[in-house]
Amino acid sequence: MQRRMVRKLTLERLLDQLEPHPSPKPDLEQYTIPANLAAEILYLAAYTYNSITGKTVLDLGCGTGRLAIGAAFLGAKQAIGVDIDVTAIQMAKKNSEKTRLKKKTQWIITEINAIKGNFDTVLQNPPFGVQARKADTKFLAKALELGKIVFSLHKRGVDNKPSPFLIKFINARGGTIKTVYPMKMVIPYMFKFHRKRKHEFLVDLYVIEK
Ligand SMILES: C[S@@+](CC[C@H](N)C(=O)[O-])C[C@H]1O[C@@H](n2cnc3c(N)ncnc32)[C@H](O)[C@@H]1O
Repeated sequence: MQRRMVRKLTLERLLDQLEPHPSPKPDLEQYTIPANLAAEILYLAAYTYNSITGKTVLDLGCGTGRLAIGAAFLGAKQAIGVDIDVTAIQMAKKNSEKTRLKKKTQWIITEINAIKGNFDTVLQNPPFGVQARKADTKFLAKALELGKIVFSLHKRGVDNKPSPFLIKFINARGGTIKTVYPMKMVIPYMFKFHRKRKHEFLVDLYVIEK
């Protein structure tokens, strides 16, 4: 188990080496979280909230595995990644082998609603619900059902503020929002509907206790 504090740059470099999805699908909003943002979230979860080392960590909509693999690298007891897409899970598995974290990770191909149980921590960068309406709240509801603490990334609300709708949604499900961290996400051109070489937007990381 990783007990010593890992340098953020070391974590970022590890995540940056991971293979991307070879054919991301727009309808599943399969963009990969940038390594620097993933490292920032993992670092907060591990060292501000003490929610990674020695914990069971679930990554809902894990894609190619950046958050789960990062959690395993920071000493999670077990990191479990779940995704509906077979190719994403194949890449995640390959990435866990490449980083020698195969034993600390587990990969499940399924729709998130099939997951049951209790986990210490849920980390997620879910679809924002831009292509599939309400995908974001579906993930949020599931995360709140499964985790003691949830780190969930969402698109910033209008007026450049955390979304009042999401705040209400979380409170109605018994979640207590500890903090909302504003962050910037920069993703490279990926899909035909992207008009610029890179796509830059504001996101909020919700830290929620159950
Ligand atoms: C925005 S991507 C994030 C991928 C990865 N977590 C990351 O941050 O790099 C969302 C992921 O959720 C997966 N996904 C979408 N709907 C899903 C569902 N209903 N059940 C399971 N996975 C789903 C997609 O296949 C995709 O990999």
